Amino acid sequence: MAERGKWKSSLGFVLAAAGSAVGLGNIWRFPYVTGKNGGALFLLLYILSVIFLGLSVMYAELSLGRHTHRNPVGAFEAIKPGSLWKGVGYLGVITGIGILSYYAVIAGWTLYYMVISGLGKFKQGITQAQVNELFSSFTSSPSLTIFLLFIFLFITSWVVSQGISSGIERWTNVLMPLLFLILLFLSIYSLTLPGASRGISFYLKPDFSKLSFKIILSAIGQAFFSLSLGMGAMITYGSYLKKEENLFSAGIEVVIFDTLVAFLAGIVIFPAVFSFNLSPAEGPSLIFKTLPFIFSKLPLGVFIGTLFFILLAIAALTSTISLVEVATSYLVDERKMARKKAAFLVGAIAFIIGIPSALASSVSTFSNFAFGKDFLSLMDFIWANLSLPLGGLLLSIFVGYVWGAKNAAKEIRHYKDKKFPGEDIWVFLIKYFVPLALLIIIGSMIV
Ligand code: TRP
Repeated sequence: MAERGKWKSSLGFVLAAAGSAVGLGNIWRFPYVTGKNGGALFLLLYILSVIFLGLSVMYAELSLGRHTHRNPVGAFEAIKPGSLWKGVGYLGVITGIGILSYYAVIAGWTLYYMVISGLGKFKQGITQAQVNELFSSFTSSPSLTIFLLFIFLFITSWVVSQGISSGIERWTNVLMPLLFLILLFLSIYSLTLPGASRGISFYLKPDFSKLSFKIILSAIGQAFFSLSLGMGAMITYGSYLKKEENLFSAGIEVVIFDTLVAFLAGIVIFPAVFSFNLSPAEGPSLIFKTLPFIFSKLPLGVFIGTLFFILLAIAALTSTISLVEVATSYLVDERKMARKKAAFLVGAIAFIIGIPSALASSVSTFSNFAFGKDFLSLMDFIWANLSLPLGGLLLSIFVGYVWGAKNAAKEIRHYKDKKFPGEDIWVFLIKYFVPLALLIIIGSMIV
């Protein structure tokens, strides 16, 4: 067995796992989904999903990983050898590459925005139409989007190739605190804008008359994606944890960090959007069209805007790292491949699969690919909306019934003879509530 590597410190693990969780999902997706779904009510439902579903599944993944010290495929196999359950692990590995392939495309955009913002493209006096034009002319350049995809995947594979503590942990130890500082600074800045309070009440004062099944579904889906659950990323990260570490508190810390970052992203964006009388329901382009326009109007706008896109690129990088790591750990553990080779191989596969997503705004075959969706949105639907809940469902059944919730709970306990706080609630959630909720989600997605 090749040397698997371990996290050096407990904080190192928390930052790496939070790095996986905190990503485009928090800073790009969360604000626009919140904006589209009416603001505060969505935020509330999101937080409930995080507490009742997200945290439960987080513990299920972390305990399975730490107990077996294996990648997702090996973890299922270690507990139920020779069964079909390792198929869930394979689904996770494939889903990871699937998500990576389009996620890295958007991550590539953040690099471009970081550069053009730094070069002062979003300067005073630019109109919204010009900002939009910049976005469409950039995303419709095949060579540029493919090049950026390549660069992003190359950097990611390189970090992963360096190993657990000397690659991933070393980088997330620096990047995550930096990200948090930038975010804090931007939040305070945004709160001081004239008219900020209207944004705050949109974001924090729930309007319960808007409650619908659809909003609940998107809140749960967002929680899963944001916490990196349902494909074994947390099994893999948990597998590098030492037995002495306290899983219970590590799990909570990761979840709090991720939720806090999403929350703050909203604090940065909504006051600014309302301050300029723009629509919070702009959709996926909120970050790439609405925000640069806002930046152009602000004092120190070039600086603030560049900082924001640096933040976004960092968040994306620490997430793509975890997506590459899942398949890499599989190749290292099960196929005995050298880590360097495995990491670059995974990056190369994601690059090839990612090309159609990179071309989703420029080549007509891919911009209207199937089911009325472009290739990138279709990939997002298949992997994030279907495959993650499916993986989460199978995982919760496995942990709840095959491995046994009681056995998993023992792994989460810090003192082996003492239950962890809320242990009985967790057992109930993972055996009954989580599978049922996910079943409903998958059912309604298919319908
Ligand atoms: N959680 C990340 C985000 O919010 C994306 C991500 C990274 C992810 N790894 C994952 C999502 C594993 C699901 C599963 O942007």
